Amino acid sequence: METVSTIESLRRQVAAWRSGNERIAFVPTMGNLHVGHLELVKRAREQADRCVVSIFVNPMQFGEGEDFGSYPRTLEADREKLSSVDADLLFTPPVEVVYPPGKTEQTRVEVPGLSDILCGSSRAGHFVGVATVVCKLFNMVQPDLALFGEKDFQQLMVLRRMATDLCFPLEVIGVPTVREKDGLALSSRNGYLTPQERTQAPALYETLKLTSDALMSGERDYDSLEFRAQKRLVAAGFRPDYFTVRRAADLGLPEAGDRNLVILAAAYLGKARLIDNMTAFLPLMEA
Ligand code: PAF
Repeated sequence: METVSTIESLRRQVAAWRSGNERIAFVPTMGNLHVGHLELVKRAREQADRCVVSIFVNPMQFGEGEDFGSYPRTLEADREKLSSVDADLLFTPPVEVVYPPGKTEQTRVEVPGLSDILCGSSRAGHFVGVATVVCKLFNMVQPDLALFGEKDFQQLMVLRRMATDLCFPLEVIGVPTVREKDGLALSSRNGYLTPQERTQAPALYETLKLTSDALMSGERDYDSLEFRAQKRLVAAGFRPDYFTVRRAADLGLPEAGDRNLVILAAAYLGKARLIDNMTAFLPLMEA
């Protein structure tokens, strides 16, 4: 697997594949790869002839006081993992290549409505940073398809909408969350957990599951479900940011008759801010 750091060398390689009519998949990442990322590459390899992976810790999506400086950078280990799943090309642009004028002078991409709620409300500017960098990466790579993990459900929705609104000729594919045996969703930020916190962490998944089970068995008092879930998380040692039941199609508040729902949660455990979600397609209830 070759590694390139400039747009010119990236485009040269992609153009060569394209001239042979090859279909190109793209997996954008911030590195510190885990099995969830490798699953994205495996799916990409099933659906395309070539897979490009980027590793770029994007300063524009981190707020003041967030973990940009301490975000784990593990390039050598990442490279080995990517080779083991047959990624074709690794793109590791330095910050000057992605933001030549500096990130404050950069043209920005904003997806209204979806960007400023939930994670976007507690992390101001986060989704503008995500949408802007992914838009730029899409233009650099020009893939036929791009794959993202469903763990970042809101991010996936923001990026799908961006791709549609800006007429990118590509397909955005969501890949199911990979979990540890005890249910904890794989995330680079799990590395921030102490051994003690790691034993508490599955409570997030368990609480989503309990809420989903309650919805599936007919409970519709969302306020009460959310209140009980937050209480449970606090008892397990979390500091919840939000725990909410939303419509899966647009993250709006569910109304009577909505059946395609998603439960979304973000909560701090020690230094780690963990997010997770679970979709629930409600059965038709008898009147
Ligand atoms: O999910 C991530 O790792 C990042 O938000 C992404 C999509 C690579 C953009 O920096």
